[in-house]
Amino acid sequence: MPKESTGLSLDGQGKPLWLSLELTYRCPLKCSWCNNPLDFDKYTEHELSTEEWKRVLAEARELGALQLGFTGGEPLQRPDLEELVAYADELGFYTNLITSGVGLNEARMAALKQAGLKQVQLSLQATRAALTDQLVGTRAHARKLEAARLIKAYGFPMVLNMPVFRHNIDLIDEMVAWAAELGVEYIEFANIQYYNWALLNRDELMPTREQIQRAEAVIQRWRERLDGAMTIYFVIPDYFEDRPKACMNGWGAIHLTIAPDGVAMPCQEARVIPGLEFHSVRDQSLAWIWHDSPLFRKYRGLDWLPEPCRSCSEKEKDFGGCRCQAFLLTGDAGNTDPACSRSPQHVLVQAAVTQAVAPQRFRKPLIKRSANGVCTSFMEE
Ligand code: FES
Repeated sequence: MPKESTGLSLDGQGKPLWLSLELTYRCPLKCSWCNNPLDFDKYTEHELSTEEWKRVLAEARELGALQLGFTGGEPLQRPDLEELVAYADELGFYTNLITSGVGLNEARMAALKQAGLKQVQLSLQATRAALTDQLVGTRAHARKLEAARLIKAYGFPMVLNMPVFRHNIDLIDEMVAWAAELGVEYIEFANIQYYNWALLNRDELMPTREQIQRAEAVIQRWRERLDGAMTIYFVIPDYFEDRPKACMNGWGAIHLTIAPDGVAMPCQEARVIPGLEFHSVRDQSLAWIWHDSPLFRKYRGLDWLPEPCRSCSEKEKDFGGCRCQAFLLTGDAGNTDPACSRSPQHVLVQAAVTQAVAPQRFRKPLIKRSANGVCTSFMEE
């Protein structure tokens, strides 16, 4: 039901086509680029129950949601994952599990298959055990490889997701070779976005421009060699581009995230923006939150755009960029995303790159995701 006055018709015809359920923020890993909130542990006691999640699923399907990602944290931490997948499948969702692979044993894989799960996205940071384990802060590599084997053995289409940053970007070549051998259908080299834990570690994690160019060349060679047998995604990080990304395809356009405590958001990071009014599915219907809540209407459509976006010919491509990044870097979510070279504050992004890649800079230890944020480790490069 498009409502023209709210700008709710960019695409998806006003429907939240993409639904992400952050079932929990609990996770056995300690990744320094995690996009969960810095105070993630404060939500643990307030997670939605199985019945509450089922109600959310039914309401979202009613609103027209189709694609469903079960994510976290680590969604396998929830013992009711299989029950929720089965219910979602019954409702007609295309279900996708987004997992680190830790906790994915054969019994759970079989149960997820039985429940109707359609696709699995597995994250893997490197093909080298010592590096993976050091990056994620625990012994996880062998369990990830076993998860990859199970995903293929059970016939799931597999998306391999490699979060990319300075420490592993030069290993893309061996990652594609490994994935091709395993028969992976899709591989995504996801240059990390600098929010939350990644922003804390931005200086250490940001690759150099030369690394990005080398990675692009490697990927191009693989695309030619594999000739369509595997789809390879690689998007240049927006800190190194002239234009911002069309984050979420526009605020409140097609994407809906539900946090573990039931708060509904236009993206996974929106709680970093102060002054917004958040609502939980415990207190409001999803239909009201999606169509009418001040949160979803705040930056929906094009009417709110500031200059220079308002008069920019590319505004319908990028919608002014990412609201969360605009807030984190400029202090105002209503500004043009400074990743855009037309932003008056683009210098902030340029300065961040210059600072991060300065060769003489003292390397700091990575801050690992942890409940109190004090766990650190130096990385070998
Ligand atoms: Fe929130 Fe981009 S991550 S709008």
